[in-house]
Amino acid sequence: MSEELANLDRMLTIELARVTEAAAIAAADLVGRGNEKEADQAAVDAMRRALNTMNVEGTVVIGEGERDEAPMLYIGEKVGTGNGPKVDIALDPLEGTTLTAKAMPNALAVVAVAQGGTLLHAPDVYMDKIAIGSGYKEGLVDLDKSPSQNIKDLAEAKGVAPNEITACILDRPRHSDMIEEVRGLGTSIHLIPDGDIAGVIHTTDPSTGIDIYMGQGGAPEGVLAAAALRCIGGQMQGRLVFRNDDERGRARRIGIEDLDRKYTMMELASGDVMFAATGVTDGSILKGIKVKGDKVETNTVVMRSLTHTVRWITALHDVNNKKKYMKS
Ligand code: FBP
Repeated sequence: MSEELANLDRMLTIELARVTEAAAIAAADLVGRGNEKEADQAAVDAMRRALNTMNVEGTVVIGEGERDEAPMLYIGEKVGTGNGPKVDIALDPLEGTTLTAKAMPNALAVVAVAQGGTLLHAPDVYMDKIAIGSGYKEGLVDLDKSPSQNIKDLAEAKGVAPNEITACILDRPRHSDMIEEVRGLGTSIHLIPDGDIAGVIHTTDPSTGIDIYMGQGGAPEGVLAAAALRCIGGQMQGRLVFRNDDERGRARRIGIEDLDRKYTMMELASGDVMFAATGVTDGSILKGIKVKGDKVETNTVVMRSLTHTVRWITALHDVNNKKKYMKS
């Protein structure tokens, strides 16, 4: 880490909390309104405003899409005041747009900041992912093994039977073979409707009962999840999945040459990194936004890889200040 960033990163972690709080508060007004796009836009606007007050020379490397499809927080957009260290910014202003629109649990506002050039510039394609918590030998689980072999190896390392393992998998038809294979071992499966950043993070917290995350989700979410794991501990691998030449072209345009590469957690997020998430709806990681009289309560987790400190921040915001988060 550069000396400049090392000195700033303690303060930046708190600034990051402000960034995700702003996005979550803005999205909260759209909870249950059935409009994914509007909820996402509110979070994007608020996050962008908050990011632009940060004293960094930031480049969005994981954002809302490529410039031609996302007018704001697009990949390559410069954010921050420009007075400060050069940093890579990965963001998902609203992770769980459908969860928000349907008032379902586990919607989050998420951001990660790392020294420039250290986060994988992942295109908006799918990624095969596998993740487990800390305390296991490196490479215990591997994308090149079958799902059932990974479960067996994890069970053996944990000293339990495969039917005492719980796997978290996105509930998608593309996972039906994987689900069948894993259920064949008697393993319990926690199916999630959306939100695989939270799914990966769950493997690091024994209270969730989830031992392993596996399956295909968004590649940008994969980089954000790896950033979180770098801070909390655990291991993860990811491999980009391309459905057509257009997706392959997108990867090549942002400099990815080996399209079949298997990335370790350290390759997804190699530098010192900070991660923050604020709950939009109640979830297993964070409580969602609550209006309490003239206050708005936010619950945020902020962490950094340098010290592995994980801070849980509950903040009460004056409701009259809330408009600063909303569309101007
Ligand atoms: P959005 O918030 O962009 O809707 O993403 C939610 C999510 O569930 C991610 O957590 C996950 O990585 C991705 O969508 C999976 O994509 P798909 O819904 O196409 O299976």
